Parts: sequence; C-alpha cells; structure tokens
Amino acid sequence: MSKPWIRKYAPKTLNGVKGQNKAVSDLKEYIENFRPGKAKALLLYGPPGNGKTVSVYALAREYNYDLIEFNASDIRNKSSIENIIKPALEQKALFSKGKIILMDEIDGLSGHQDRGGISSILKLTENISYPLILTANDIYTQKLRSLRKKCILIEFHALSYISIYNYLKNICQKENIKYDDSVLKQLARQCGGDMRAAVNDLQVLTTDGELRDDSLINLDQRKQKESIFNALKKVFKTTSPETALGAFDDVDEDLEEIFLWIENNIPKEYVKPRDLNEGFENLSKADVFHGRIKRWQYYRYYVYIYNLLTAGIALSKKERYKQFVSYARSMRPLRIWQANRSYQQRKEISAKIAEKTHCSSKEALQSTIPYMKRIFKENKKQAENISKFLELDKKEVEWLRK
Ligand SMILES: Nc1ncnc2c1ncn2[C@@H]1O[C@H](COP(=O)(O)OP(=O)(O)OP(=O)(O)O)[C@@H](O)[C@H]1O
Ligand SMILES: [Mg+2]
Repeated sequence: MSKPWIRKYAPKTLNGVKGQNKAVSDLKEYIENFRPGKAKALLLYGPPGNGKTVSVYALAREYNYDLIEFNASDIRNKSSIENIIKPALEQKALFSKGKIILMDEIDGLSGHQDRGGISSILKLTENISYPLILTANDIYTQKLRSLRKKCILIEFHALSYISIYNYLKNICQKENIKYDDSVLKQLARQCGGDMRAAVNDLQVLTTDGELRDDSLINLDQRKQKESIFNALKKVFKTTSPETALGAFDDVDEDLEEIFLWIENNIPKEYVKPRDLNEGFENLSKADVFHGRIKRWQYYRYYVYIYNLLTAGIALSKKERYKQFVSYARSMRPLRIWQANRSYQQRKEISAKIAEKTHCSSKEALQSTIPYMKRIFKENKKQAENISKFLELDKKEVEWLRK
C-alpha cells in the first residue's frame, strides 16, 4: 500500500485540525498563558482517532517549540524518570526557545505500581517548568482519578460525521478518487466519530480509484481485520504485560489465524536482532503448546499460549518502536491453498477426459489438457461443445481458460 493517508493528510497546523474548535483554542490558551512553576499539566482525553496526538504536534510546530515525547516504557522505568524525564521537566534550558513535553496514551499504564506508572506521572505534574501534555482515551477510570484532579482537562469529542465527510471529500479530490456523495456520507457516518478509522477505510476501499456503493459491503469483513490490527498494535506497541494480556479477547479469529498474523508481523515490528530473536522464541514456545493441545487435547495449555502470544510477544522488546507498521496476514497458507486447488482442478478435468475418451488420466493430463487449454482460449464455440461433452462445471471451464 502506498503511504498511509492518515499520515499524508495529517494536519500540520492547528487550523487543519477539524471539528475540535473548543479543544484547539483551549490548547492555545494554555500555551500562551503558561507560567513556569505555576501551571498545571494538561490532560487531553476522548475516543480514539479524533485529533489528540496530532494537535499536540501541530501546537508545537505552530508555536515553534520543541516537542519531547516520552513513552510508557520510560515512565515505567525508575531510572529514566529520575535521569531523563524529571530533569527535562524541571531544568530550564539555557538556549532553547521552549519545549512541550508529551506523554501519550497514559491509560496504558498501570495504576498500582509503586515505581513507574501513574503514580510517577502524578509526581511529575507538580512544579513543572515546561508545558506538560498527557493524553488518554478514558479518564474516568479509578486509576486516573487522582491525576484527573491535578490536571487541566481538555475534551476531544467524537467527531461529527459532517467534519469527517468534509475531510474525506477533500482527500478524494486530491487523490482523484471518483465517489458517490451518498456513499461517502455513509462511510463518514459509520466510523463512530473516528477520523483515523474513516481515512483508513477510505484508502483501503478506493485502491482502484473509485468509491462504489458496493465497497461498503466489504467493510464488515474489514472491521474484523481491524480488530486484529488493533490487537496486534496492543501487543507490539506496549511493554506492559497488563495492556497486552487481553489483546485478543475480542478478536473473532481462531488461534491458527492469530499465529499467522503474529508470525508475519514480528519481523516488521521488531527490527533489533535481539528483540526479533526473543519474539520468535516466544512464538515458538506458544506453538509447542499448541502442538500438545492438538495431539493430546491438553486444553489447559490454552492459557500459556495466550500469555505467550500477548505478554510474551510484548515483552520481547526492550522498548517500544515508534514507526508505523501496516500489518498484514501471511500469504503463505493462501498460496498453498491456491496451488492445491489448481492441482485439484487439473486432476478432476483429467479424470473426466479419461472417462469419456477411454484413456488413463495421466495420459489426459499430459497430452490432452495442453491442447484443450489452447482451444478454450481461442475457440469459444468448440470450447462450449467440449464442455458439454465432458460435463465440465464452471470452475473447470474457468481453469482451462486461464
Ligand atoms: N480532528 C481531526 N482533523 C483532521 N484530521 C484528524 C483529526 N483527528 C484525527 N485525524 C487524522 O487521524 C489521524 C490520527 O489522529 P490522532 O493521532 O490525533 O488521534 P488520537 O486522538 O491521538 O487517537 P488515540 O486516542 O488513538 O491516540 C491523524 O494523523 C489525522 O490524519
Ligand atoms: Mg494519540
């Protein structure tokens, strides 16, 4: 796939962030009135894909601040809190024009660790010298209660379908996509206020340059894929076992499928040799348990498999990779299946020829089929007669035409 449109069309300025006027103006106000040592931290919250992260990036760019981003694994690590994060928040830089500190997706952190996690963030929000911005999807959970009280809250609401529709329309024009207005509106409506999902849907559905109304029918199947994407993202992008553990709970795929997805994407995510090695180590352990279940029906091993596939894979890396990976399922079994099918078809046709012409099917395969393929490509009338005579079905005719 070409460059993801959510990247290509990500707003570069606050003006480009659509449908979040109140939140955007609150952000500006925060930065413009920031007083070192006096100000509180900001907590941006709201459902996925509606502009939280992208607004912080735009804010920094627009006000010409450096953006320093910490991730969950930094926050869970006591020495990086002491040595990197704390100094970054407290010391005044001598030369820099200013910086904004972003801690994205903090709801992935656990609430009850004594070192690292939410409690560390809580301490870090006190007495800040630089704008500190946190983001989370759901802040009304118990573990974020105390943090919620210490921060200025800015809500990013689910986007209206009109904002999304306009945005998609603009992309269609720039990408020369042909679209039917009502189909585009429907697409904008069904993504639940999530711009990221909408833009991704649009890109996937229009690879041939057109958005047709039957495109949306395929979307259901895609939603299923999306749930596996999200699960993979959870596993690959976190270093917290708690976050990873339930990753596949809502995924409606069988275990064999999940194995294939993980197998195919470990090398894309885990670039460092050490992490790659660990990842495959955990995957192969899971596979050993899987084999035992199949052979001996030791069903209690399922729990090990899921632990290895989630927390095991998540903890295989030392730290989270930031790069975007577009996950894909392994094509290997599909190819094998296709090859088998083609082989099967050939065998069945030869059997039919053998029966009607009183030769062996091996003979039919070797001498008759090559001629028949030629005829089926070039002489429609004769091909029809042969099909009737041999009682070929549609699939077999198709195979001979290929
Ligand atoms: N309000 C918006 N206006 C324009 N584009 C948007 C908006 N919200 C999201 N997008 C598009 O979706 C992408 C994802 O947005 P972003 O990363 O800001 O989501 P988020 O709110 O941080 O989601 P999450 O809660 O999952 O982290 C952006 O790169 C951009 O392309
Ligand atoms: Mg985000």
